[in-house]
Amino acid sequence: MSQYSEEIKRRRTFAIISHPDAGKTTLTEKLLLFGGAIHVAGAVKSNKIKKTATSDWMEIEKQRGISVATSVMAFDYADHKINILDTPGHQDFAEDTFRTLTAVDSVIIVIDIAKGVEAQTRKLMEVCRMRKTPVIVFVNKMDRDGKDPFDLLDEIEEELHINVRPLSWPIDMGQRFKGVYNIYEQNLNLYTPSKQYVTENVEFKDINNPELENYIDPHQAEKLRQDIELIEGVYPEFDVETYLKGDIAPVFFGSALNNFGVKELLDCFIKIAPSPRPVQAIERTVDPEEDNFSGFIFKIHANMDPNHRSCIAFVKICSGRFERNANYKHVRFGKQMRFSSPTAFMAQKKEVVDEAYAGDIIGLPDTGNFKIGDTLTSGEELHFKGLPSFSPEMFKYIENADPMKAKQLNKGIEQLMDEGVAQLFTNQFNGRKIIGTVGQLQFEVIQYRLLHEYGAQCKWEPISLYKACWIESDNATALENFKKRKAQYMATDKEGRDVYLADSGYVLMMAQQDFPDIKFHFTSEF
Ligand code: G4P
Repeated sequence: MSQYSEEIKRRRTFAIISHPDAGKTTLTEKLLLFGGAIHVAGAVKSNKIKKTATSDWMEIEKQRGISVATSVMAFDYADHKINILDTPGHQDFAEDTFRTLTAVDSVIIVIDIAKGVEAQTRKLMEVCRMRKTPVIVFVNKMDRDGKDPFDLLDEIEEELHINVRPLSWPIDMGQRFKGVYNIYEQNLNLYTPSKQYVTENVEFKDINNPELENYIDPHQAEKLRQDIELIEGVYPEFDVETYLKGDIAPVFFGSALNNFGVKELLDCFIKIAPSPRPVQAIERTVDPEEDNFSGFIFKIHANMDPNHRSCIAFVKICSGRFERNANYKHVRFGKQMRFSSPTAFMAQKKEVVDEAYAGDIIGLPDTGNFKIGDTLTSGEELHFKGLPSFSPEMFKYIENADPMKAKQLNKGIEQLMDEGVAQLFTNQFNGRKIIGTVGQLQFEVIQYRLLHEYGAQCKWEPISLYKACWIESDNATALENFKKRKAQYMATDKEGRDVYLADSGYVLMMAQQDFPDIKFHFTSEF
C-alpha cells in the first residue's frame, strides 16, 4: 500500500457530458454549490460559451480563454476530493471533449427528458464505450413535460448501447411533478421548486405503506408502486461491479435548475464512482497508488493573446504524487524538467500548488515543449496509451500563400497539430497537405494563428472527402494491393501511419466489400 493511498482513494475525477442545452452547465453549478465551491447560482454561467448563431470564433475563443480557469473544477464533499473536468459545449470542439474523456475515471451523462438521446450524446458515449468508462445517467428537466420515463430508458439502451438501471424514479412530471423516489436509499424526495435550497428527504422504506398517500395524490402513489414493481421485475439488481466495468449505467431523475435530485446523484456518485483507476502504458499497467509519479498531457490550451505565445498543458496524474520544483522526466525528450508554477483549480480559482496526487489535473505553463500524449515520470520510460485521434469530418487542402514564409508555415502547422487543434494528413500520391477537423471553426482558428503567431499565410482549397480511415491488414500483399488501387487516396498521418481517405460513404462501403482482408478503423488506436 502506498503512503498516498488515502489521498488517492478519496479522489473522484469525472466529466459531465451532454448534448448542448441538456443542462450540463446547470448541473455542474449545482454540484459546486454542494461542495461549497460557489455560493450563488449563476456563477458558472458567465464562463459558458454563449450560444451564437454566427461562427464568430474569436468571440468563442475568448470565452474559451476564460474557461481555462474552469477547465477543472475541484471541490471537497463528504471527505472526497471531486475533480470535474469541463468539456466544451460547442460541437466544433468535440475533439477536445474526446481527449478530456481520456483523463477521467467516470462520466455523468445529462439527458433532457423531452429531447431524449441526441447526436452529441451518442458520439460521446461511443468514446466511453470504447474505453469502458463507468457512466451514470442524469435525466434532467423533470419539471417539464417530456417522454415517458420507461420509453426513455428503452431509448437510452437502444441508442447508447448500454444497459440501464434506474436508481431513482420520478413521480409524474411537468406541472404535476411531485418528486422522486430514491430506490437506492429508499427514501422519498418531495419537490418544491427552488434554485438555491435543497429539500429534505423523507425516509420511506416501504412504498406499500398507506402513509405514502399523506405525501402524494392516491393515483400518483398507486402509479409509483406499479412503476417500482415493474422496475424490480424488469431490470436486474444494481451491481456496482457491473457499473464499474462500464456494462450498466445507473439512472437518476431530477431537475438541475431547481436543484432537485442533484444531491441523490452526488451522494450515490461518491459511493459508487471509481477512485483513480490503473492506467495502461505501452510498457505495463500503472497503478495509481504506486509511489512514483507519472502523468500524461491530454490537453493543451493556447493563449490567444499574440503577445504571450504561451500555453497551458494539462496533465492527468496517473500515479503517485506530483511536487512543485521536483525533477521529472519528459519521456519523449529524454530530459529532466522542473516546474516552478504548476497550477491547480480549486473551486473557480486557479492557483499555484505545491503538490497533487493521482487523479488530479494540474496545469503546466508551456512554451512549446509539450504535445498531446506526452508523458512525465519520476524517471521511468513510460508511454501511456489511449489518446486516439478520431476521423475528422471536414477536410481542406492547406496551401502556402506566401512563398517567402514556407518554413514558418511548416513549423506553425506542426506545432498546431501537436496541440491537437486539428489533424494533418499528407497525400502519398502528390504530397499535398490536408487538414482534417471536426468543425468549420478550426479552419479559421488555424489561419488566424498561423498568421499571428508564426507570420505565415495559408489558404484553403476544397477537397471533397467523407472520412479518413486508418487501415491495417495481416495480409501484406492485400495491403499493398489496396494501397496501389487507391494510390490517389492514400495519405500518411502525423505519426506516419497509413490512412485511406474515402471520398464518399458509398465508395467506403464498396472498398470494405472488395477488400475483406483490410481492416478500416475510424480512430487511430485499435
Ligand atoms: P448545457 O450546459 O448542457 O448547454 O445546458 P445549460 O445548463 O446551459 O441549460 C440549458 C438551458 O436549460 C438553460 O436555459 C437552463 O436554464 C435550462 N435548464 C437546465 N436545467 C433545467 C431544468 O431542470 N428544468 C428546466 N425547466 N430548465 C433547465 P436557457 O434559457 O437556455 O438559459 P438561461 O437563460 O436560463 O440561462
